Amino acid sequence: MFYLTLLGLISQILYASAITLDVDSKDSVCEATALIQKGMLDYYQGTRYGGTVGMFQPPYYWWEAGEAFGGMLENWYLCQNDTFESLISDALIYQAGSNYDYIPSNQTLVEGNDDQGVWGLTVLGAVERNLPDRDGVPGWLAISQAVFNTMYARWDTAYCGGGLRWQIYTWNSGYNYKNTISNACLFQIAARLGRYTGNNTYLEVAEKVFDWMVDVEYIVLKDVANVYDGATTNYNCSDIVQYEWSYNHGVVLGGLAYMYNATNGTSKWETALTQVLSGATTYFFKNNIMYESACQEAKTCNTDQRSFKSIFSRMLGYTRVLAPYTAATLDTLIETSAKAAAGSCDGGTDGVTCGLSWFDSTNDGYYGLGEQMSALEIINQLLVSSSGAAAEAASSGSASSPYTSSSGGNSTGDASAGLNTTSTNVLQNNLDIESKDKAGAAVATAVILAVLVGGSVWMLF
Ligand SMILES: *[C@@H]1O[C@H](CO)[C@@H](O)[C@H](O)[C@H]1NC(C)=O
Ligand SMILES: *[C@@H]1O[C@H](CO)[C@@H](O)[C@H](O)[C@H]1NC(C)=O
Ligand SMILES: *[C@@H]1O[C@H](CO)[C@@H](O)[C@H](O)[C@H]1NC(C)=O
Ligand SMILES: *[C@@H]1O[C@H](CO)[C@@H](O)[C@H](O)[C@H]1NC(C)=O
Ligand SMILES: *[C@@H]1O[C@H](CO)[C@@H](O)[C@H](O)[C@H]1NC(C)=O
Ligand SMILES: *[C@@H]1O[C@H](CO)[C@@H](O)[C@H](O)[C@H]1NC(C)=O
Ligand SMILES: *[C@@H]1O[C@H](CO)[C@@H](O)[C@H](O)[C@H]1NC(C)=O
Ligand SMILES: *[C@@H]1O[C@H](CO)[C@@H](O)[C@H](O)[C@H]1NC(C)=O
Repeated sequence: MFYLTLLGLISQILYASAITLDVDSKDSVCEATALIQKGMLDYYQGTRYGGTVGMFQPPYYWWEAGEAFGGMLENWYLCQNDTFESLISDALIYQAGSNYDYIPSNQTLVEGNDDQGVWGLTVLGAVERNLPDRDGVPGWLAISQAVFNTMYARWDTAYCGGGLRWQIYTWNSGYNYKNTISNACLFQIAARLGRYTGNNTYLEVAEKVFDWMVDVEYIVLKDVANVYDGATTNYNCSDIVQYEWSYNHGVVLGGLAYMYNATNGTSKWETALTQVLSGATTYFFKNNIMYESACQEAKTCNTDQRSFKSIFSRMLGYTRVLAPYTAATLDTLIETSAKAAAGSCDGGTDGVTCGLSWFDSTNDGYYGLGEQMSALEIINQLLVSSSGAAAEAASSGSASSPYTSSSGGNSTGDASAGLNTTSTNVLQNNLDIESKDKAGAAVATAVILAVLVGGSVWMLF
């Protein structure tokens, strides 16, 4: 770390330039985010010779790519800048996999419900922002419905009275953990499909998933609500891991905002939204500046955790728009944090590389995909807040409210998408491996890899 800090310091002295940001100018916001996205794409494989479309270079996992394209998609829409439209669209289609459900064959053996869920949230962004459907493949709405259908099919009442497990496959460690993020993603995907299509079945599922998270006390509703990380099936989900992460709070909060809006402000959802928002603002802000409280100041955030402020920021923006009464709370937090984030973007040899901490008005020595996309997504939200930049965006046509099928959204859907793609479930059911049987699981994984990818299996070990 010292070494990184020193390098950061030297590069600041040599190249200090930083990003300028005028929150009242759409052009300024969009120029700043263009620079930040350039930094993100330094890590992108898909435009390199031999690189995989839709993947960032190691150590960035597949799920984080799903998160990254979610922020770029919002920027494409809010800045009305088509430069990356085909890059985003290509990535979303390529990684959807041959069944168009975000279980691509390269990820099948390691993928969790949360990984699929985060890509699901991004593809719902494609639906709600009217990213043009691609010819010859299912529409973004149908793909979203495939994600919903395949995830909900894994709802498991055998333990803890319901819930999704973290892992899809028995052989992965974590199969006995039912985590908040997987269930929060299903909750939000259902809420968004319900609002978009007007089909009440989705809203009923969303309510069921939310009520379950409250029942097992992953979400503790009170004036300043808690959103904990999850628990194992071993003790009926009572051994709760009490970490508070911004992405858990955020995805629950965003889901609540969609429910609130889809039900025209019903008091159940308004109360829960107000309480979870109060938790989110209490746990993840200091002097109105966003931070990842469980690890950032201790400097223990891992690669995934360094990106959580990204999806959290996106969720604050949806909440601001879909529940306008939250503006009084959120506008100050968005504006102060966006300015602070821009202040951290003065590192690296380009002089515009963003840092992890936004408290310092300068890069703190961290840099990477997570830092870039977190800065992108909080600055994006200036275009949906009460800033002058948002007013300019609205008057130039990018209405901040996500489309619905009755307000101009035109993606093609298929309510039964994904329901007949059972190949992975067949594998799963025939094996029935105990997760504690590590050796057996490793052998079985090898066998399945051999079946799926033939000769190349040994290269993976
Ligand atoms: C559109 O995005 C590209 C790539 O980020 C950027 O170079 C260009 O300046 C942007 N255009 C406008 C008008 O902001
Ligand atoms: C799967 O991995 C192979 C080998 O790296 C790559 O060529 C292919 O493009 C990948 N497919 C997807 C959907 O990522
Ligand atoms: C397990 O937890 C669920 C959900 O909270 C509850 O409904 C059920 O009664 C519990 N079962 C046992 C045996 O404690
Ligand atoms: C939504 O609520 C408002 C205020 O309570 C009411 O005027 C309006 O008719 C409601 N709309 C629908 C579709 O229920
Ligand atoms: C739902 O969202 C729209 C679009 O932002 C907003 O105009 C409307 O007031 C919201 N509904 C409620 C009940 O707040
Ligand atoms: C869908 O809507 C978008 C923008 O609202 C529009 O540009 C596009 O032409 C529409 N597509 C179809 C097939 O109607
Ligand atoms: C509503 O959604 C459910 C769940 O996917 C589906 O079974 C049903 O056919 C849908 N209804 C309509 C009218 O599309
Ligand atoms: C699933 O059903 C749809 C029609 O509902 C069909 O187009 C598709 O080919 C089927 N997929 C598989 C894998 O059987």
